[in-house]
Amino acid sequence: MDVDSLAIEKLVHRGFGLGRHESRVWLVPFTLPGDVVTAGMVRDRGGHVEGEVRKVLEEGPGRTTPPCPWYGRCGGCHLQHADYDTQVRLKIDVLQETLKRTGGVQAPDPEIVTGEPWAWRSRAQFHVSGTTLGFYARGSRRIVEVEECPLVVPGLSALIPVVRKALGDFRFQGTWDLELVDGGSKGVVAVARGDGRKIRNLADGLVGLSGIEGSLAGIRAKRGYRWTQRGLTAVSRTTVDGRGKPASLESNARCFSQANGSLNLIFARTVMDFAGPVEGRRVLELYAGAGNLTYPLALSGADVMAVETDTRSIAAAAQAVRKNRNLKVRTVAGRSEDAVARAVESGQQYDLVVADPPRAGMKRLLKDLVRLGPRRLVLCSCEPSSLARDLAQLTLAGYRIDRLALVDMFPQTYHMETVVSLRSPRS
Ligand SMILES: C[S@@+](CC[C@H](N)C(=O)[O-])C[C@H]1O[C@@H](n2cnc3c(N)ncnc32)[C@H](O)[C@@H]1O
Repeated sequence: MDVDSLAIEKLVHRGFGLGRHESRVWLVPFTLPGDVVTAGMVRDRGGHVEGEVRKVLEEGPGRTTPPCPWYGRCGGCHLQHADYDTQVRLKIDVLQETLKRTGGVQAPDPEIVTGEPWAWRSRAQFHVSGTTLGFYARGSRRIVEVEECPLVVPGLSALIPVVRKALGDFRFQGTWDLELVDGGSKGVVAVARGDGRKIRNLADGLVGLSGIEGSLAGIRAKRGYRWTQRGLTAVSRTTVDGRGKPASLESNARCFSQANGSLNLIFARTVMDFAGPVEGRRVLELYAGAGNLTYPLALSGADVMAVETDTRSIAAAAQAVRKNRNLKVRTVAGRSEDAVARAVESGQQYDLVVADPPRAGMKRLLKDLVRLGPRRLVLCSCEPSSLARDLAQLTLAGYRIDRLALVDMFPQTYHMETVVSLRSPRS
């Protein structure tokens, strides 16, 4: 079924444009508010119709020509058809609407933090099948071959044809995943994941190519992966010190690090700004990763307990702060849920909790967090809908939202990072 003329009213979560036809909601990717398009039905999802653009009849404000030739086929980008100011404006609308509709949360207008709209990705995940190297197509596991990627930092993008050429020599027909991680001044680390011992040869075979200084090979096992390594495996990234100045941290290339390496510094600075003065304060940091926020908190004089499930990451965080004997940091390898429950049971008290959970948010620990009752909370989130649900519960328990920032860590995509500070009713 085609709709001859669908007017797009607004952008909604996941980058879809929303229009209405005969009292049904249509969600159409690659459209913008103000567009009028001819759309075809892709799927009837019951509550709404998922459509695709056949033709743009009228262009909404901010529409532009996407510079990437693979845009629309490659699943990595969703908003290249909007100029950057429009992208940011639309993300603000989506964030505010998601907080209101999903969480019933009334939040202050967000402070906006932006960086470079292109060439920001300092780690990139490719998929490989035989000599085909690229990104997954939108909503599928079909690989779209690319020659370069305008989102990826130039040093990594330039490696795409180099790696593809090497694949011809490997003569391996299987499928595997390859992540290229920019390690800063040290070089690039290739992280390969897949089935069978051949993965190790593939990863090792990339070392020495134009700037690839090391590799990690993960062979799928019954539980997780069995890892081997060659050459450089540590990468450095930039966070801030106690005075907001750039500071370099090292961790294994497999550890979580913010994909937007250059904006990470501003992200960390925003978290510290929202946290306010922390000198002498007891801080519980949940989902600490490899110490990206632990480091500035500790250097600002806080007494920090940092919790993280990934043992390699939390060991990197511990090592970073160990260099300075005056810092007060305890690192805990374990689940944040367990740490908060233990803290409640043992009557520990914290002035501030900083939490940066994965997409699912922190639903499982919210009840205990409210019982713990820190005066201040700073939450970071890369998923507005789980953030909305978490904020709904916290505001219901009496916490007030103080400040909100949209940090556009993921230009050209619908993803966004949000930082929120809250105060308890006691403060
Ligand atoms: C979004 S990252 C944030 C890391 C860090 N704050 C940063 O800026 O680099 C989320 C981290 O939470 C960790 N994680 C996931 N589930 C967890 C849990 N239940 N408890 C503690 N850490 C968890 C992941 O390993 C990951 O390092």
